[in-house]
Amino acid sequence: MDKEALFPFYQRIMPIIDRYRKDRTIILLGETKTFQEFLTQEYGLADCMTITTVKKKAGDKLTYIGDIKGQNDRYYIILPRFRKTLDMQLRLHSFGYTDFEDCFFINHDHITIDSYIDDYNDEYGNHVHAPSCRVVLDDYAYGVNIEVDDTCTFGETSCINVRTFGGSHVKIGKKCVFEEGVTLSVFGDAEVNIGNNCTFVRDTEMIVLAGMKLDIGKDCLFSFEIKVYCGDGHAIYDLVEKKRLNPQNKGNPKNVVSIGDHVWVGMRAILLNRTVIGASSIVGAGTLVKGTFPNNCIIAGSPAKVIRKDITWSKESLRNSMDHIPEEYLTLTDDTNT
Ligand SMILES: CC(C)(COP(=O)(O)OP(=O)(O)OC[C@H]1O[C@@H](n2cnc3c(N)ncnc32)[C@H](O)[C@@H]1OP(=O)(O)O)[C@@H](O)C(=O)NCCC(=O)NCCS
Repeated sequence: MDKEALFPFYQRIMPIIDRYRKDRTIILLGETKTFQEFLTQEYGLADCMTITTVKKKAGDKLTYIGDIKGQNDRYYIILPRFRKTLDMQLRLHSFGYTDFEDCFFINHDHITIDSYIDDYNDEYGNHVHAPSCRVVLDDYAYGVNIEVDDTCTFGETSCINVRTFGGSHVKIGKKCVFEEGVTLSVFGDAEVNIGNNCTFVRDTEMIVLAGMKLDIGKDCLFSFEIKVYCGDGHAIYDLVEKKRLNPQNKGNPKNVVSIGDHVWVGMRAILLNRTVIGASSIVGAGTLVKGTFPNNCIIAGSPAKVIRKDITWSKESLRNSMDHIPEEYLTLTDDTNT
């Protein structure tokens, strides 16, 4: 992983480390090159030290491992790449260093928050309130914020995964139903908002990459085996302009999948990045969606095209009258901006 990806991540971690470290000298342990560069270039800390196990090598920048014993009032140990193993933890404890208070593993453990846990908060700034759903935070999850309303239900095989360098925000409204095999995976500083009363039938995968945003309105219905992919997953460059065509930067309006209120997405549809679908529309089965589409229409095909305008729909398959459909979903199609 290169500097470009790691430095923003380290920026997020340093305030957490500083809260514990105060003014103690930093000692780095394990593979430290990129982190050391970050501390010098971005954080103005050139005086941190690394560790040697050979006493005679010790000097200005190199501390002999035996000399850090019992020195936790002087030194704060950071382990940038070292996995948080019990063996390493115990060794540091035996030297008088307590987790967080005196030493910090940047690569922390995988954390699984089971559905019976109401609220989870940790020293890495992660907050999860998802009482009905399993959430898995990977080894580099920092500053993650997940809020799932208490009235939502999740099947046993549905879950939220927070992936590499997670600082993601996820908010899921009231009475949403995620049946079996529905997974939401968020990377980095991805953002996801899902409105009230949405249903995800089964085996649907939503992936939101770093810098990307997924907005789903209220009252939506996702059928089965749907893929939602926010981002491209790899960089594409224009050789003439010599610039990236698909930057994954947060706040870029191109990095969005936005689905309006009361949208029905048919089975096996694929929704790609840079997609906007207006309220009360239908996405036909097997449709490949990329682009902007209006309200109250049906889109279908590969790539998606509007095949019918001025429609609405209902979750109730046996009702012939429209009386039960809220007024807000009975609007004629306005395609002036699409
Ligand atoms: C799109 C859909 C709602 C039908 O809409 P409709 O307005 O009744 O469409 P029609 O059957 O009149 O077809 C209109 C045209 O669109 C095409 N079309 C319809 N659905 C299509 C689809 N999913 N993909 C591609 N083309 C489609 C038809 O072939 C027809 O083409 P033509 O004009 O060249 O003959 C329906 O086909 C569909 O995909 N339903 C989703 C079913 C589903 O996923 N259910 C899961 C339950 S949770």
